[in-house]
Amino acid sequence: MTQSLTIRRPDDWHLHLRDGAMLAGVLPETARHFARAIIMPNLVPPVVTGAQAAAYRDRILAAIPEGMSFQPLMTLYLTEDTNPTDVAAAHASGLVTAVKLYPAGATTNSASGVANFDNVRGVLEKMAEIGLPLCIHGEVTTHDVDIFDREQVFLETVLHPLRERTPGLKVTLEHITTSHGIDYVSGADGDMAGTITTHHLMINRNHILVGGIKPHYYCLPVAKRREHMEALRKAATSGNPRFFLGTDSAPHSDANKESACGCAGCFTATNTMACLAHVFEEEGALDKLEGFASMFGPVRYGLPPNEETITLVKEPEPVPYPAKIDTGDGPVTVFDPGHPLYWRVA
Ligand code: NCD
Ligand code: ZN
Repeated sequence: MTQSLTIRRPDDWHLHLRDGAMLAGVLPETARHFARAIIMPNLVPPVVTGAQAAAYRDRILAAIPEGMSFQPLMTLYLTEDTNPTDVAAAHASGLVTAVKLYPAGATTNSASGVANFDNVRGVLEKMAEIGLPLCIHGEVTTHDVDIFDREQVFLETVLHPLRERTPGLKVTLEHITTSHGIDYVSGADGDMAGTITTHHLMINRNHILVGGIKPHYYCLPVAKRREHMEALRKAATSGNPRFFLGTDSAPHSDANKESACGCAGCFTATNTMACLAHVFEEEGALDKLEGFASMFGPVRYGLPPNEETITLVKEPEPVPYPAKIDTGDGPVTVFDPGHPLYWRVA
């Protein structure tokens, strides 16, 4: 029996598109299904100024294939030298939808991120004043904190004090991986929201480590214990508008993943909607998928939800998804949930 589900066209509130040949290779995978996405600024060098964001936006627009529609929502990479006036101007002109905070050294291309949070106070206060949201990679980078505890420690030692100091600042805790992150966002005031990735709803740390190391499941924040994955699934399918989709689809070439020092990132753009339909069906919550993928993000960012729709169809046989996509920067492995997927976007 064929089952189908029509929802408003989704948006992705955390996406890595890279640049150049990689951008050209991966952009169609997102634009095929998603209308808009928050574009991460962690290029080399990072997208720090309004001028850099405008140039990057134009490169993305130029890479959209004929016949596809897609709107990149640009972000600025927060550094300790970021100028509040430049940020405000980029926001006022409609160029920039959010500012991204990477703790220095937390993840891929985060060396220019923030080490001393006192040095970004002026920018954060300006953002609170003008209503510009801050997207946060929520992990401490202290060497003596275990990598599996870095999100939890960040909530207590960085995020909470930062929010206390900057009342009115809208904060999105991105790619939540722990029940602690879910509890923090659920329990905070309305300025707080959180995104959840596709892969963190489907994998836990066993997937990375049991039976041999699986580099394509390695991402940051790293997947935690199964009980945390269960908390994420519960939050994502709960219908709580504080939680919405940010895939964190993060392409790296296979050569860079399958290495003695492999890059962090799961590439999920190609089969994200099929994976989400699978998870929401398993949780008996297909009716909550539209809120998570298509409604709560726009509401949060003060944008209208998309008018177009997509239809998800459940096939009687597994739907074949490509194991890899080819890019001018080499093959990129598509996220493998470890079991067949029966859903596809019609
Ligand atoms: C991201 C990347 O590759 O740029 N990697 C990842 O594992 N998620 C960076 C990030 O979002 O942390
Ligand atoms: Zn990311």
